[in-house]
Amino acid sequence: MSPVYDEAMTDTRITAISPGSVFLDEAALLACQAHASLAQRFGWIPERTPEDFLPRIDWMTREGEVFGMEDNGHLSGFTGYFIIDDFRNAGPGAYTPDWCTAFSGTLSPSRRETCRQDLIRHLLDRCRGKGVHIHGISTLSHETELAHQLSLWGYGTIVLDAAQPLTVLQKNRSMNPSGGSIQLRRAAPGDAETLAALNDLLALHIGNAPVMMPDPKGMSADEWEQWLKQPDTAACLAFDNSLAVGFIKAEEPQFDVTFTVHDTGTLAINGMFVLPGYRRRGTASSLLSWICDEAETRGKTLVSVDCETTNPEAFSFWRRYFEPLSWSFERRF
Ligand SMILES: CC(C)(COP(=O)(O)OP(=O)(O)OC[C@H]1O[C@@H](n2cnc3c(N)ncnc32)[C@H](O)[C@@H]1OP(=O)(O)O)[C@@H](O)C(=O)NCCC(=O)NCCS
Repeated sequence: MSPVYDEAMTDTRITAISPGSVFLDEAALLACQAHASLAQRFGWIPERTPEDFLPRIDWMTREGEVFGMEDNGHLSGFTGYFIIDDFRNAGPGAYTPDWCTAFSGTLSPSRRETCRQDLIRHLLDRCRGKGVHIHGISTLSHETELAHQLSLWGYGTIVLDAAQPLTVLQKNRSMNPSGGSIQLRRAAPGDAETLAALNDLLALHIGNAPVMMPDPKGMSADEWEQWLKQPDTAACLAFDNSLAVGFIKAEEPQFDVTFTVHDTGTLAINGMFVLPGYRRRGTASSLLSWICDEAETRGKTLVSVDCETTNPEAFSFWRRYFEPLSWSFERRF
């Protein structure tokens, strides 16, 4: 007769994972296994080893807090957070990146649920104890049970991180090309004023309903000029004769892009805007095609993007072309 695993008999407790903890390696392994589960769905995401996660989780033990569910001497799940002074322009907030929550694949569904609940409960308690009243958490897109749990507990979706292999984007090049009147060209430092003006309109869009981001700001002309001089940046402007009607920009994945796609083979889009009168006629699709050509020239294989889920135009646009890798949620309390 095979042995019966009696969950009631297990010795479980939440344990702090501090710098140098014996559980650091186990946490890195769980994070890597979660990445591997996502890779089963999206085989094109960069490969990872536990060593890729170890320095991040170690950083979190020093800059924030990490804790796990200790289960008979092993870690069955872990999570953590660090505090961002001005979280999405709304004051101090605790943030849990998508590489900082993972559960053992061997847990039964009910044990997994309890583990999830206990860890989030503990995390919320710790945040409130530190005087923080916002918690943001990013979750890998295949973690649907975690997402459901968060929604039951009052979290709302705020951000989508998505990506697509360049080969797929190139295949979909029928991407709704815009009519003949729109011309595209690479933006140069001399375009900084034009880009800053379009960026101000993008900030206005993000500040208005339904996104309503507090105090949104675009880059100033000086910032654009400096940004465009960096070797790994690329921006394209769309013109109707001499009128600039839109732009797109991209660079290496920055700190706010899901770690899932951090790789030298990824080009990360981090801004796009089209004047209202030029929308729904393929202008943004043409800008995306330009970025794909740029990615190919730079030897990239993956293109990524992130957007507010509360931004309906952007969300619909990116979901048409990209696959969701990570969803971010927020709760205020
Ligand atoms: C998002 C944005 C750049 C899209 O520009 P666009 O030129 O209208 O996009 P396209 O015409 O190339 O749209 C291609 C497809 O995306 C989807 N899409 C774009 N806008 C959409 C909308 N408002 N509602 C639903 N689907 C939309 C559609 O599938 C569309 O194809 P279709 O027109 O054949 O149905 C534009 O709406 C915009 O500038 N929004 C404000 C700024 C912003 O949110 N920027 C993104 C920040 S991440």
